[in-house]
Amino acid sequence: SRNIRLAVIPGDGIGTEVVAEGLKVLEAVGTKIEPTHYDLGAARYHRTGETLPDSVLDELRGYDAILLGAIGDPSVPPGILERDLLLRLRFAFDHYVNLRPVKLFPGVATPLAGTPTENIDMIVVREGTEGLYAGTGGVMRRGTPHEIATQESLNTAHGVERVVRYAFEKARSRPRRKLTLVHKTNVLTFAGDLWQRTVNRVAEEYPEVTTDYCHIDAASMFFVTQPERFDVVVTDNLFGDIITDLGAAIAGGIGLAASGNINPEGAAPSMFEPVHGSAPDIAGQGKADPTATILSVSMLLDHLGLHDEAARVEQAVAADIAERGAGRGTSEIGDDITARVSG
Ligand code: IPM
Ligand code: MN
Repeated sequence: SRNIRLAVIPGDGIGTEVVAEGLKVLEAVGTKIEPTHYDLGAARYHRTGETLPDSVLDELRGYDAILLGAIGDPSVPPGILERDLLLRLRFAFDHYVNLRPVKLFPGVATPLAGTPTENIDMIVVREGTEGLYAGTGGVMRRGTPHEIATQESLNTAHGVERVVRYAFEKARSRPRRKLTLVHKTNVLTFAGDLWQRTVNRVAEEYPEVTTDYCHIDAASMFFVTQPERFDVVVTDNLFGDIITDLGAAIAGGIGLAASGNINPEGAAPSMFEPVHGSAPDIAGQGKADPTATILSVSMLLDHLGLHDEAARVEQAVAADIAERGAGRGTSEIGDDITARVSG
């Protein structure tokens, strides 16, 4: 098997702990990897004032993929690390697909009591480079009673079409072949109209895919009351952010939720990370569940064309989850899954 050049950004809080377990599993799968660690995050920011130096960004461009733990720390004002590090990576590498599976594994307790496992099996295709995350807008008269703050959602025909096409391709490859656009077209009339027209137009090229539409508020309700409605969900950056935390909750919690920030054309490395954050409250205690990171490693392998290896990791996780009791820490869970992957 070939050598994977992997950039590793453990980041902040539990990021370092969970990434170590992800790497254990990756090594056990029998793929030759060359991991290079990058010290980015709160500690570096405090030490040097840097978030993501241009030289590091250029270097990262040369890797096959990036594995990231978590970014964010209460000692840094909100927005600095998120915007100048995490979002900068997503934007610079044009990660326009933020792929977030919502799948209930057998044996996992969902808060949706009585829901059969197979009813929660969807994939959210969250747009990753535009929308309200674009950072356009501004503030006037800041700090006065007459302050005006605007925050705009940027949606381009190009940006919407490419993510919608990706979602249709995904939908076509899945047994149920259903795509649901989630938006708020009744209020966000400019952006919603662009999304809906784009879906309608691209749908003509995919007659085998059933298309549906759901407002974000109703979708939030249906995620809980009728999750079986959803197969592939395509949505904008902020709606996708919110609904995938809800998705994580119904599929057994944020400790299991994986994601990939994908550049489908391979023009830049894709980046895989757990959906959860740095969890400073439990950092350094060996309590964090590394499963989300390990499932992100499975997505990474799949993205690199190592489908058998990806499936082995996912099966090892499924087997571990099925027998899961309480009382194991981060490295014990990692070791147990690693042992299953090794055979
Ligand atoms: C996520 C996170 C990030 C996001 C934050 C940390 C900027 O919540 O990956 O879902 O909003 O995208
Ligand atoms: Mn989020």
